[in-house]
Amino acid sequence: MLWRMLPVDLRSDTVTRPSPGMREAMARAEVGDDWYGEDPTVNRLQEEAAALLGKEAGLFVPSGTMANQIALRVLCRHGDDVLVGQESHIQWYENGAAGALAGVQLSVIGRGGLFSAEEVALACKSDDQICPPTRLVCVENTHNRSGGRVWPREQLFAVCDAARRLGLALHLDGARLWNAAVACGASPAELAAPFDTVAVSLSKGLGAPVGSLLLGQRDLIRSARRYRQMYGGGMRQAGVLAAAGLYALHHNRARLVEDHDNAAFLASRLAAHPGVDLQPVQTNILMLDLRPPLPEAHVVVEALKGRGVLVSAFGARRIRVVTHLDVDRAACAYAAAAFDAVLGGA
Ligand SMILES: Cc1ncc(COP(=O)(O)O)c(C=O)c1O
Repeated sequence: MLWRMLPVDLRSDTVTRPSPGMREAMARAEVGDDWYGEDPTVNRLQEEAAALLGKEAGLFVPSGTMANQIALRVLCRHGDDVLVGQESHIQWYENGAAGALAGVQLSVIGRGGLFSAEEVALACKSDDQICPPTRLVCVENTHNRSGGRVWPREQLFAVCDAARRLGLALHLDGARLWNAAVACGASPAELAAPFDTVAVSLSKGLGAPVGSLLLGQRDLIRSARRYRQMYGGGMRQAGVLAAAGLYALHHNRARLVEDHDNAAFLASRLAAHPGVDLQPVQTNILMLDLRPPLPEAHVVVEALKGRGVLVSAFGARRIRVVTHLDVDRAACAYAAAAFDAVLGGA
């Protein structure tokens, strides 16, 4: 039955397709015009997500990028300085929107997506007529480009305490907060507690086709709604999509542990290859670096594609592999064997 599982698509956890149960929930969704606040399914999703994350209110938005960008608008003024970790999504993948739309400057601190309380204090600029005033600290948990890294809890809370002492606001890019919570045995609300705003995705590990949420205090979310409209993210009978989000929250959170186990399985198989350097695997993302004489990443990506396995080149010698609910252990075993054939024969 090999043909059934090909291709094994490990490029991202965004490639999942809605399951039959999710599609049924979408088809049955009660809807209304969300512009009037009258879509009952959207309202339910926003309320449930807010409760899950321990916040007063939530706003359903089309993408994680929009959730992050609205947070920057709500929490900052033009000309403000924002502290972000190295290679954060906000800095790397949002097409310069922080500068172009929110009008803020991003200052990159720390290493590998993490930073310390001391680094926050050192980078914090005062409002003294020449420096851009530092207004906000953004934390990405898990951190995508450093291989799904989870923020150690003590470090996370120390950074948030330091930011508060300095009078700074806090935003959490929690596109994969669900993975972080499962990996460190905390509730999503516990990890979200210190933050003014939290962005979470429904369309990554949770398997919904579309959607993210921005959560925070009621007044912040009221103003977020204005910016969602400004950015063209206002929706109408969005309950069809919110139903997928509710299904994802109810059915697909606890099972993320399977994705983490599959990533650990793949890591154990790949680590056996001389010339492969693996970053520690904590959740569902593996980053592997290929040392010469192994070929460059794009060559390996093409060779794997020829065997029905899709992964991403993340630099000349780096490959990213992501597990998710549409690849089971058998598919991962197939992918591991394909890597063996490609790397072993190199
Ligand atoms: C950490 C992180 N934040 C935000 C996003 C943006 O989400 P979207 O693709 O829905 O805009 C992503 C997408 O991969 C992400 O990895």
